[in-house]
Amino acid sequence: MQVDDLAIYRTIEHLSSYRNRYYASSYGRESAEWIRDTWAALGAGRDDVSAELFTGCTTCSTQPSVILTVTGSELPDEVVVVGAHLDSINGSAQGNLEQIAPGADDDASGIATITEIVRIALGSGWRPQRTIKFMGYAAEEVGLRGSNAIARRFATDGVEVVGVLQLDMTNYRSGDVADFKIISDFSNADLRSFVGELFDTYLLPLGLSRMSQACNYGCSDHASWTSAGFPAVMVAEPGSPQAPFFPRLHTTGDTLANMGDSAANSAKFARFGLAFIGELAKTSAAAGDRIFGDGFEAAGR
Ligand code: CO
Repeated sequence: MQVDDLAIYRTIEHLSSYRNRYYASSYGRESAEWIRDTWAALGAGRDDVSAELFTGCTTCSTQPSVILTVTGSELPDEVVVVGAHLDSINGSAQGNLEQIAPGADDDASGIATITEIVRIALGSGWRPQRTIKFMGYAAEEVGLRGSNAIARRFATDGVEVVGVLQLDMTNYRSGDVADFKIISDFSNADLRSFVGELFDTYLLPLGLSRMSQACNYGCSDHASWTSAGFPAVMVAEPGSPQAPFFPRLHTTGDTLANMGDSAANSAKFARFGLAFIGELAKTSAAAGDRIFGDGFEAAGR
């Protein structure tokens, strides 16, 4: 199996077809349930895979977060998290539940990237040594609420989280910029170095390039994990020389059509995500060869 731009495209297309995924709207809950069902189907028949809705956020209205757990074969108590936010918002709608907020880039692209990582990893029969939890967070756009509730819960429960990867906006790239951006703040320095080395090992040989940039505020769910005391990092699209991110985020124009009608940029992040889980969740020999062999054929791995 290989990363498939079209599979990512179709997931973004579906998620951006909801009127919105606003945390307090019925569509916000429906879309979360669709993600849960889609991820569960990718793990069908595996007794080490389970999908759940996290409803322990008291400020997330009716929107649950989604968690897909792949239990580690050898180190099940050590947890790797890969997440994106599932909600969307229209910044000028003042909370109207019927607002138009396709959120194709922000952040259907991150959820679609994770969906493709899960499809390849589980479809290859891959089994991690450490437990992996793939997360779709509720209510990010109104203050990182879903991720905060989960990170606080994990801290209270003493869960051993070895690393958190956040994917928020992976699909927009325009002009003379790198392919991939590591967010330099509200994150863990060691994990940022690890991500840079991973990129140089797995994606640089594919001819891809990286850059680093600060958000200057806790711009996504990695900040929830950081403030709860866990090592976290965020990666994102490079944007353009004029803008750090897709300029049409939080508008009715956050659509695939306005991003070149392609998911090619997100595919780079899916390849990176496979490297991240392969290395950080550790790989059981034979299956690990498959996950990398399939994800990185172009690099001769
Ligand atoms: Co976002």
